[in-house]
Amino acid sequence: MVRGNAISKQKGRTIASNVLHAAIASPLVDPVISPNPFAMLANAPMDQLDGPEINETAMGIKLDSMTMANEYRSRIEGIGTMLLERLMNPWLFEDFNYKLTGLQAKFNKLLQPVHAFTRSIIQQRRELFHQNVRNLGDFSEENIYTNIKQRYAMLDTLLAAEAKEQIDEEGIREEVDTFMFEGHDTTSAAIIFTLLLIAHSPEVQERLYDELQQVALSRTNPEEEFSQRYYNELKYMDMVLKESLRLYPPVPFISRNISEDTYFGDRLVPKDTLFNVHIFDLHRDPAVFPDPERFDPDRFLPENVERRSPYAYVPFSAGPRNCIGQRFAILELKTVLTAILKNFRVLPVTKREEIIFVADLILRTKDPIMVKFEHRPGDHSN
Ligand code: HEM
Repeated sequence: MVRGNAISKQKGRTIASNVLHAAIASPLVDPVISPNPFAMLANAPMDQLDGPEINETAMGIKLDSMTMANEYRSRIEGIGTMLLERLMNPWLFEDFNYKLTGLQAKFNKLLQPVHAFTRSIIQQRRELFHQNVRNLGDFSEENIYTNIKQRYAMLDTLLAAEAKEQIDEEGIREEVDTFMFEGHDTTSAAIIFTLLLIAHSPEVQERLYDELQQVALSRTNPEEEFSQRYYNELKYMDMVLKESLRLYPPVPFISRNISEDTYFGDRLVPKDTLFNVHIFDLHRDPAVFPDPERFDPDRFLPENVERRSPYAYVPFSAGPRNCIGQRFAILELKTVLTAILKNFRVLPVTKREEIIFVADLILRTKDPIMVKFEHRPGDHSN
């Protein structure tokens, strides 16, 4: 997507994968929901979840305010709308026509401040990075994973690569833009739709709560915070999240350019065809997912998964350009959901059948999705 020639695709993907690996393995998963998820939920409309969090975790720079996150989001949304408009109107594919209609200039106007914003984040973190890491030899992959005294951000991995002349400034900016774009609204959409689904399924919610209690009880030290190890034990929550991503895949479709003549069954799809995979519809194939609108996490019991093609369910795409942030995303979703469920019951407000989707690159609804939070009695501070 925002990947250019400052860095080769494969190299970019390798560094970016290391970046994510570092983020998952390091203590940095903590700030995903910091400082206080409940204040955030109470104060912000539902579609504003997840703004500063990916930034702080990934980039190591705190956004000063929700306003900055909103400003960034509104530009990104504008860019998404324009990309979609171009995708839906083949005569705009030609750069000449795109320029002639004035749309290119409008697009650049939206893009420039986004790039400026990313550059300023990189610069701020670069200064901190060089203050903290006096000796590059100290900055090895192992100590990103194991050094618990110093919190490294995902961006630091790229800055270390820059210092070793493995990537240039433009390359870093492209990687950062990709992370910000891919990791931003996707995860917040997933949280919102999961809350909607569990609000309408009190029995699923109670099973989730019971599982949390069991995992909490399994800790040898009750004071111990939930860590990644505990999140990995939340198997039912895994199934719930998978079923939520089936019904409401945050990336509802992906596009590919067919690079050589290809047969799908007996149909020839010629080279250079733009091919869209509609993940949203694929996940509603009644032959694979009977009664497809029904929310049923048991579809993801191992014995049921085994019976399906691995390509029947692809919220993170599949193959060589699949989502490299999926483990990070699931961990982020589990962290937020755990924090909510330990303290609140989620009650329905918006009905599923009321939802109207709007065309966008990310699954978006015309109106905000609302749920209600009811305090669970008792002390669940841990
Ligand atoms: C629930 C959350 C997420 C969903 C559903 C999701 C889904 C996807 C999908 C479908 C693609 C393929 C896009 C395409 O082919 O056009 C993708 C690519 C990607 N995702 Fe995610 N994503 C999520 C979260 C994240 C997060 C949190 C990050 C990073 C922190 C991330 C980083 C990326 C990157 C870098 C790519 C591009 C990979 C490449 O082209 O090689 N994603 N994602």
